[in-house]
Amino acid sequence: MCGIVAYLGEQPALPILIEGLKRLEYRGYDSAGVALLNGGLKVVKSVGRVSVLEEKLKQTPDLCGTVGIAHTRWATHGSVTELNAHPHSDDQHRFVLVHNGIIENYSTLKKVLEERGRVFETETDTEVLVTLIAELYEGDLEKAVQAAAREVTGAYAIVCCCADEPGVLVAARKGSPLMVGIGADEFVVASDPSAIVAHTSRAFALDDYNVCRIDKTGFRTSTIDNHEVSPKVMELELELEETELGGFDHYMQKEIFEQPRVIRNTLRGRLDHKEGRIVLGGLTEISKELVKARRFILTAQGTALHSAMIGEYLLEDLAKVPAECEYASEFRYRNPIIEENTIVIAVSQSGETADTLSALHEARDRGATSLGVVNVVGSSITRDTDAGVYLRVGPEIGVASTKAFLGQVAVLTMIAIHTGRRRFMSPDECATLLRELDQIPDKIERILQTAEAVKRVTEQHIHKENWLFLGRGYNYPVAMEGALKLKEISYIHAEGMPAAEMKHGPIALINDGMPVVFLANRGRQYDKVLSNIAETRSRGGHVIAVATEGDTHIESVADEVLWVPDCPEPLSPLLTVVPLQLMAYYAAVARGHDVDKPRNLAKSVTVE
Ligand code: AGP
Ligand code: GLU
Repeated sequence: MCGIVAYLGEQPALPILIEGLKRLEYRGYDSAGVALLNGGLKVVKSVGRVSVLEEKLKQTPDLCGTVGIAHTRWATHGSVTELNAHPHSDDQHRFVLVHNGIIENYSTLKKVLEERGRVFETETDTEVLVTLIAELYEGDLEKAVQAAAREVTGAYAIVCCCADEPGVLVAARKGSPLMVGIGADEFVVASDPSAIVAHTSRAFALDDYNVCRIDKTGFRTSTIDNHEVSPKVMELELELEETELGGFDHYMQKEIFEQPRVIRNTLRGRLDHKEGRIVLGGLTEISKELVKARRFILTAQGTALHSAMIGEYLLEDLAKVPAECEYASEFRYRNPIIEENTIVIAVSQSGETADTLSALHEARDRGATSLGVVNVVGSSITRDTDAGVYLRVGPEIGVASTKAFLGQVAVLTMIAIHTGRRRFMSPDECATLLRELDQIPDKIERILQTAEAVKRVTEQHIHKENWLFLGRGYNYPVAMEGALKLKEISYIHAEGMPAAEMKHGPIALINDGMPVVFLANRGRQYDKVLSNIAETRSRGGHVIAVATEGDTHIESVADEVLWVPDCPEPLSPLLTVVPLQLMAYYAAVARGHDVDKPRNLAKSVTVE
């Protein structure tokens, strides 16, 4: 997803803007640009990486100023060209603006503005917004932005400035994230904390329909109707080194291999072995609702959906409460029935996924109690839920989610145990699960020590363009996740599904040597999985089994075996997914792809 960085202070703005854009590169983009204000309004834009923009800036004379805005674009309206890159300006080149999101009524507004004589040169919706602000400007930029925000529909995070007010930035937000970092005599505005934390740890997030005017004397936050609001300033917990590569080749590799450490962090302080219970401070507000819950609805997209699917099994298995998992993009438009004592759980790494946020609003507005399972502190979902549990896995830079998935599964496991313990689960059963949960990080470590074996197996098949991933029970969502990982970074086509489903059509796909990955660890349906393996091999499929250490049978039925330690079945997804993450990583590296910034993908999809 695109990114915004803006600076107002005493230092030269340009190096701060470029460094900020680089910290946002992981979000995914196709072009970039900067505008500097108080040394005369100058705009420089380019297609491609931020490094291309940097080269262009070196060729651009007399760029100076301590106020500026910058942007990485993920095109929605208008092709990827230098002209369509941000910042955009009005036809008089007095106003410049950067924008994340989509202005849905831009074509209507464009017609009105054209009738008023305004001229447009780009294909973007963003140019309409900055032109509208220029049209509404009557000497006060804050008021012009408020007036324009009242006219537009859609989603936006913007920072705007104008030549008539060179010492002012005005930011506004609806639906796309935007934070304001408060430094000593300086401000950094950005799409996420990783571009702010190098300058200050004090920041606040703009809420929907908020506008923030910044100048060297300070800031003022208001609604688009000009009602003053006091933002909640927080201490950013992000440590810069967490966003560094740390000797690994890729962020995804680092994030896979740091999973033992980060899952220890996710669990830390939350497993009370003495009392045999889970301690989740973020659920205190809804402890009664958890006990009374008659149904859970879990909603998410992508990888988060797969962890939410595991949450569905966990809640029914451990808490004995009916649960269903829904694609957020479907749920929000389905006219869902929300009965009394329903709890909706929104699962999200970024906390900004547009569909998940809207599904959450839909369920909450129909009376559901809302719970967030989120990684990014202070993100939109965390602010719009009644309660929540943070993943505490640190910033996830790689576009392909790995440690956040594990963090989501670990948190959902704790929520299920916590809820079950307050209902039917015995102290002994709970204590056993806690002990087993405590051992998971070491068991993940053991799997990571087999990484070379996973690499060797994977590299034999990277020229096969179609793979299947099959699992049963808790491993059905794991199979889905393994397929998504492979698809999104190696661009190999893969499908994940329940192993039994294969016989209802997909088995027709199996041809000689087709890689079929089975989650075949010890579990209630192990024998059924063996039957599916036999059906696959009899049709020429090449079976790669993820199996439990000590299984003496599996090597006689599978072509290759990747080992995971034993654990209680409800905890198995925390282990069985790790070889699949490694497979996807090694396949992408072997195929020469950009592992951390896969084509077409964004880290956080903040548009529909
Ligand atoms: C995961 O590898 C993908 N990058 C993507 O599916 C992601 O999980 C999805 O967009 C949801 O993002 P979120 O967890 O930030 O809501
Ligand atoms: N809709 C705008 C465009 O296509 C902004 C896209 C983005 O969020 O980067 O330029």
